[in-house]
Amino acid sequence: MNNSLKGQIALVTGGTKGIGKAIAKELSDAGADVVITARTQAKNDESKHYFIAADHSESESAERVAKEILKRYGKIDIIVNNAGANLSPDGGYSKLTDDDWDNEFQLNLMAAVRINKALLPTMIAQKSGVIINISMNPAKQPIWDMTMAYSAAKAALNTYSKALATELGSKGIRVNTVSPGLVRTPQMQSAMENMAKSSNITVDEATKLVLDKTGYVPLERAAEPEEVANLVRFLVSPEALYITGAIYHIDGGSLAVV
Ligand SMILES: NC(=O)c1ccc[n+]([C@@H]2O[C@H](COP(=O)([O-])OP(=O)(O)OC[C@H]3O[C@@H](n4cnc5c(N)ncnc54)[C@H](OP(=O)(O)O)[C@@H]3O)[C@@H](O)[C@H]2O)c1
Repeated sequence: MNNSLKGQIALVTGGTKGIGKAIAKELSDAGADVVITARTQAKNDESKHYFIAADHSESESAERVAKEILKRYGKIDIIVNNAGANLSPDGGYSKLTDDDWDNEFQLNLMAAVRINKALLPTMIAQKSGVIINISMNPAKQPIWDMTMAYSAAKAALNTYSKALATELGSKGIRVNTVSPGLVRTPQMQSAMENMAKSSNITVDEATKLVLDKTGYVPLERAAEPEEVANLVRFLVSPEALYITGAIYHIDGGSLAVV
């Protein structure tokens, strides 16, 4: 692993599990000092990441996290807005309450909006910085009975990311979106287990069902978190200095649009 991120300070929200954990490791292996957040600190965490407890659904958390990072390091170079989840029940529009919609937008859109707003004055003063917002493919290809509100919030995140990249390009700040298909993480595993239990099928059958719902997956499998992390490491590195305002799909080829 080269040291392309040596001297950089990186924040990865939701960095204790799944995709966020893999991204935090990848950035740290490339030389960055990494700050991770989550509601609960991981047990037996042997990483050197600096942990800040935060619930990003709550509006107070962003200012507090930003203050702690800037007090400790005096700067911020990389923000990866990764914390996110499907918080609402399956079953389509009639099952979704106003609270379900609000919860999805608080975590899957506003968490990133607030963290970026709290840290952007520092990046703008530095005239440098990179932001990666983690979206998902159903933002463009929603699964109506499983991800309606979640997909809508991530679609808003895509639009926000593009607008932010346009606003900030001349200030030396790049903003890109990474949009995975299905990734083998604890969140996905527990969703598959719940589905298997409620439909009286095996976890493998449930996984195949969800892969089929996302459309045909030419590579015929879910991604590993490390594969998403590799892409994020490239996008925040000096190799990607001309890339901004882009959405990178990492989905085994499943998105059925050109
Ligand atoms: N897995 C997939 O198939 C998939 C596909 C496409 C996109 N994504 C996106 O990738 C991102 C990560 O997903 P994942 O599957 O890696 O999830 P995961 O395995 O459940 O990990 C989620 C991480 O975020 C933290 N988190 C969750 N809610 C939070 C909150 N309210 N405030 C602060 N931290 C919170 C969790 O820690 P705590 O629980 O302790 O807070 C954990 O560190 C999400 O944005 C998701 O939408 C996932």
